[in-house]
Amino acid sequence: MRARSTYYLVLLLTVAHLVQACAPQGASPPAVPSTDTLHGVVRDENGPVPAAVVRVQTTDIATRTDAQGRFTLGGLAPGASVSLTAWAPGYYIGGGEEVRPGEEVTLTLEALAAADNPAYAWLSAFTQADQEGNCERCHAATEASEGPLPFDEWQRDPHSRSAQNPRFLTMYSGTDVQGRQSPLTRYGNQQDYGRFPMPPDLSRPYYGPGYKLDFPASAGNCAACHLPAAAVRAPYGTDPRAVEGVGAEGVTCDFCHKVWDVRLSPQGLPYGNMPGVLSLAFRRPPEGHQFFAGPLDDVAPGEDTYVPLYTQSQYCAACHFGDFWNVRIYNSFGEWLESPYSDPESGRTCQDCHMPPGKNDHFVRFDKGGRRRNPESIFSHDMTVTPDLLRQAVRLDVATVWADGRLTVIVTVTNRGAGHHVPTDSPLRQMLLLVQATDANGNLLPLTEGPVLPEWAGEGDPSQGYYAGLPGRLYAKTLQEIWTEVTPSGAYWNPSRILEDTRIPALASDRSIYVFAPAEGAVSVKVSLLYRRAFPTLIAQKGWEVPIIILAERTLRVSGE
Ligand code: HEC
Ligand code: HEC
Ligand code: HEC
Ligand code: HEC
Ligand code: HEC
Repeated sequence: MRARSTYYLVLLLTVAHLVQACAPQGASPPAVPSTDTLHGVVRDENGPVPAAVVRVQTTDIATRTDAQGRFTLGGLAPGASVSLTAWAPGYYIGGGEEVRPGEEVTLTLEALAAADNPAYAWLSAFTQADQEGNCERCHAATEASEGPLPFDEWQRDPHSRSAQNPRFLTMYSGTDVQGRQSPLTRYGNQQDYGRFPMPPDLSRPYYGPGYKLDFPASAGNCAACHLPAAAVRAPYGTDPRAVEGVGAEGVTCDFCHKVWDVRLSPQGLPYGNMPGVLSLAFRRPPEGHQFFAGPLDDVAPGEDTYVPLYTQSQYCAACHFGDFWNVRIYNSFGEWLESPYSDPESGRTCQDCHMPPGKNDHFVRFDKGGRRRNPESIFSHDMTVTPDLLRQAVRLDVATVWADGRLTVIVTVTNRGAGHHVPTDSPLRQMLLLVQATDANGNLLPLTEGPVLPEWAGEGDPSQGYYAGLPGRLYAKTLQEIWTEVTPSGAYWNPSRILEDTRIPALASDRSIYVFAPAEGAVSVKVSLLYRRAFPTLIAQKGWEVPIIILAERTLRVSGE
């Protein structure tokens, strides 16, 4: 942002030689200061600013101003210059010039623009010939040894591809990945209810559900979270397929860094009918200015500011919570809020787990004004849920008991690492537990007591991912469409009910017990915990490529003696 510093009203810095210039004539020149302390005042155009944070830039050496706006910073290296910044709520970060211990410093803060500017045009994250402010110019590494910087991480992050995600687009348009569209939804008429949707006619080619099959005449609210930069002006009127330019960058940098506030109910949740942009407030700069909000209070000079919200889970709430027809569909935020992780003392935020710090010691190229900082103050922008993260979420414990020639297997699945239910958010997700016992001849032992996987774990060949009827458990929030009774349903834009919710809340466990038919000799027990992004009928209809991920596996040999 140095490049735009012509716009910036920076700081007024009164250093000691100015003070000296006013000192009485004839006073002997002061000795080289040996003090390790700096004194000063933070003010705005009207007077002192109390409770401002004054910091030696990029360090933990910081203090707050007193009621008179004054501050003292000790413990500095005598004679060595440092860069000081100041920030208080309602102001841009100020300061950023070099001063030395012993000097009397005045830092002048400029108040933030009083209002949002809805006419502001978002900046693209990608370098554009006709724009200067594109994040890639400064926040991308030029060689691998320098990286990753935020732009590089964001490019790998699903947020940057939310507008192009083929699973989202095929669900929106009612097509498969090859673009073949299912027929429009048919309607029946009933005297008491009027018009109601009928289930799809599976005797004709069918490529799965789609918002546009049910609501061909409206755009829906999907863009409010999936293409928020485009939807900000028309939350219910943005067709994702028609969006171009910066709007098609999905959840893009400029959008996220102009978020100012999240509107929450007294219960601390977003309002159910206000998804994404409808629950967010922005601070977009007036013409000729630029502005970024973020987690740091020592970025200067420039019209940037620190907003504590960026370090809080509430920041993520607007898009990671959402009701459709009064049914809670997305809810990783609400689940987190209910969990021990929301405890402000002992808990963990979404950012703690999904944006872990420590991957780099700068976030701007050094030739573009980047500063070396403590890696613990720099947060990853790659929020991809990797197989490794999924595996950290769960623990699998297996115990076996032989009694009267029968094998009993006791399985406990614990959500040890997710700050919400597992699986969470999209109700398409499934976690599956499979429990198999095989005798010495390699034959599967029949289950005599215990749970089996329901039909919506997929009816068909287990080697193809269809597990219905096998011993085990399904962990999912399974929806059923109210009119058509399609189950499981991913068409939550239609009225639905939660048929069952067997997911495991944060830090909770699920225990299940399996008794197998008697067997001779040693038995081999194999317990697998699997995850997939969607239920199998939908994967097949849409032609999605979503591999099954093995989260944990245990194989035990048990014998009767
Ligand atoms: C989904 C919203 C979101 C997107 C998209 C996003 N950011 Fe951030 N960014 C955040 C949050 C939240 C933090 C603070 C994390 C914390 O403090 O725990 C942050 C922190 C930062 C910081 C402070 C230093 C650091 O890395 O922690 C910079 C700089 C930054 N983002 C730049 C960018 C750039 C550049 C892009 C695009 C290439 C981008 N952000 C995309 C939400 C976002
Ligand atoms: C409240 C914000 C919000 C709204 C509104 C919303 N979504 Fe989502 N959607 C999300 C979030 C957040 C995720 C990611 C959750 C996850 O990974 O579990 C997601 C994930 C999805 C996925 C899964 C993508 C994948 O790669 O597996 C599909 C499909 C989807 N949404 C479709 C839609 C459609 C269609 C609409 C409109 C009818 C819609 N969404 C409306 C927030 C929203
Ligand atoms: C001309 C170079 C340049 C461009 C272009 C640029 N930035 Fe920055 N940005 C900087 C510098 C320099 C810093 C401060 C670096 C430091 O102090 O370590 C910074 C800091 C930030 C911060 C931290 C603010 C805080 O208080 O936490 C955010 C957020 C940010 N930039 C976002 C963006 C986004 C989003 C874009 C693209 C829309 C962008 N920047 C484009 C140079 C740039
Ligand atoms: C403006 C809306 C918005 C905001 C704000 C937002 N997200 Fe998301 N997030 C989404 C959407 C949409 C998706 C689904 C993207 C896709 O898969 O196509 C998503 C996906 C995710 C995923 C799943 C990634 C994966 O690999 O499937 C995680 C984790 C996530 N977000 C975490 C966060 C965190 C943490 C924050 C707050 C720092 C946050 N999000 C803020 C909209 C948002
Ligand atoms: C204690 C660490 C932790 C915290 C806190 C946490 N998460 Fe997660 N999150 C995980 C783990 C581990 C996974 C992978 C397991 C899963 O999918 O549930 C995950 C998965 C996700 C997914 C992908 C779900 C899917 O299967 O597609 C989303 C979206 C998400 N988290 C959003 C959030 C949001 C939003 C918050 C804050 C409200 C948050 N997380 C807080 C650890 C955490």
